[in-house]
Amino acid sequence: DADSWLPTLMTETPQEGFDLAVSMARKAVKTTQPDVDALHKLRPAYAHDPGSLIDVSGVVAEYFATIAEANDYWRE
Ligand code: HEM
Repeated sequence: DADSWLPTLMTETPQEGFDLAVSMARKAVKTTQPDVDALHKLRPAYAHDPGSLIDVSGVVAEYFATIAEANDYWRE
């Protein structure tokens, strides 16, 4: 339905698919910890930690794999 924050996994382009993957990863974090102040307090720690940033990349890659499959890898 149109009010859903995630109405579809279908995207026009792989780049939009990647953006959706980032949104899904962030949504999972915010669903788990809804306290925005807490998120802002913890943000500098992960933003300046190479291992955390690599972890973030891996989580997005997993969402992207699902989205790409749902979109049949944007084959014409
Ligand atoms: C900002 C991705 C996990 C807290 C951002 C931004 C991205 C991002 C792309 C920059 C947004 C922009 O400037 O437009 C992710 C992904 C995550 C993740 C993909 C997990 C896989 C977390 C966690 C926390 C967090 C674990 C807190 C514990 C924040 C906050 C900001 C932010 C507070 C806003 C910073 C600001 O604008 O001042 N995140 N993040 N994120 N993230 Fe994350």
